Amino acid sequence: MFIENALRYDVEVHVLDPDPEAPCARLAHRFVQGRYDDAATVLAFARDADVIGIEIEHVSVEALEELQRQGRTVIPSPAALRTIKDKGAQKRFYAEQGLPTAPFMLIDDKAGLASVSEGRQHFLKARTGGYDGKGVMAFGPDTDLDTVFDGPYVLEERTDIALELAVLVVRSLRGTTVVYDPVEMVFDPRLNLVDHLQAPARVSDAVSAEARALAQRVVQGLGSPGVFAVELFLTTDGRLLVNETAPRAHNSGHHTIEACASSQFDQLLRVYMDWPLGDTRLKGIAAMINLVGAEGTGRPTLRGADDILHLPGTFIHLYGKAETRTGRKMGHVTVVASTQAEVDQALAVTKVHGRVVPLTERTN
Ligand SMILES: Nc1ncnc2c1ncn2[C@@H]1O[C@H](COP(=O)(O)OP(=O)(O)OP(=O)(O)O)[C@@H](O)[C@H]1O
Ligand SMILES: [Mg+2]
Repeated sequence: MFIENALRYDVEVHVLDPDPEAPCARLAHRFVQGRYDDAATVLAFARDADVIGIEIEHVSVEALEELQRQGRTVIPSPAALRTIKDKGAQKRFYAEQGLPTAPFMLIDDKAGLASVSEGRQHFLKARTGGYDGKGVMAFGPDTDLDTVFDGPYVLEERTDIALELAVLVVRSLRGTTVVYDPVEMVFDPRLNLVDHLQAPARVSDAVSAEARALAQRVVQGLGSPGVFAVELFLTTDGRLLVNETAPRAHNSGHHTIEACASSQFDQLLRVYMDWPLGDTRLKGIAAMINLVGAEGTGRPTLRGADDILHLPGTFIHLYGKAETRTGRKMGHVTVVASTQAEVDQALAVTKVHGRVVPLTERTN
């Protein structure tokens, strides 16, 4: 999605990814297969790059720090990435900045968990390595420690959530920022990942303004250029808490491709190139529905494209992943409409008909 936009400006995009079948491999000007968590590989890959950016947090920070020492432009800053990569350091950062966040403890290992005597319900999070809801689980007095992943952990008090919001903030190399309207995220409790989102979030103007202000404070505190997605909880008693921040283009911003004048990918390119930031305004009511792999594994095929594209304002994105797996993000559908009824119809049709299945599956 980044390359699709970057092509319009005739910039060269080089990609490093361990998977030779990565969807971007056939789109990039240059594709290098290799591990982005290996410092030597990253340094060799980035030798001739003008600007170095990331699409995932699990990149060697040591390599990025070295590139920065060499005077190269690295976005986001390695220091911000270091804070965010470790959910423990990230939570400490929020606390130090006086940003509201769910109360937490840092715990080293299972032995430490065993001695948590409180009867309260918690959320347990791996400090490093989690992704797409993996490395996060509900945790309480009845949780069997054998079902728990390894530490170190952040143990967070469970929050009574009314709504989950995300706010995209873009910060330029000069420190100017623009912010998008908050989106509301609706989760699939089974897969623990976003089922769909709607923009703008259906909250009061006051809550929307507070969410934007909080997200901007997070990014100001990080003091780094880049695109940041700040996830927030709106609690049942009306408070906003910062949950976590992604220092990159994010699933909660995919609707911006069609729904906003300038998409999150366009903004990221503007940051890389040190160009003026783009217009974040929404063109209508938008929803983005993740197309998640149905049961089974194999070469993917999409069902329901006719039904979805038949509706006005709908767009399909298929990421070109070589294999579909149960619960894997394979693509998404965006709708941009002028009424909630149109948005609801696109949501309903996509949920019923839009399925990514292994090619071998029979329809009936
Ligand atoms: N303290 C909490 N109280 C209640 N629910 C929580 C709490 N922490 C997390 N959750 C629920 O679990 C979900 C996933 O947690 P979190 O966002 O911290 O990690 P993650 O989703 O694995 O990271 P990523 O956004 O990369 O997928 C949240 O969106 C929320 O629904
Ligand atoms: Mg999250």
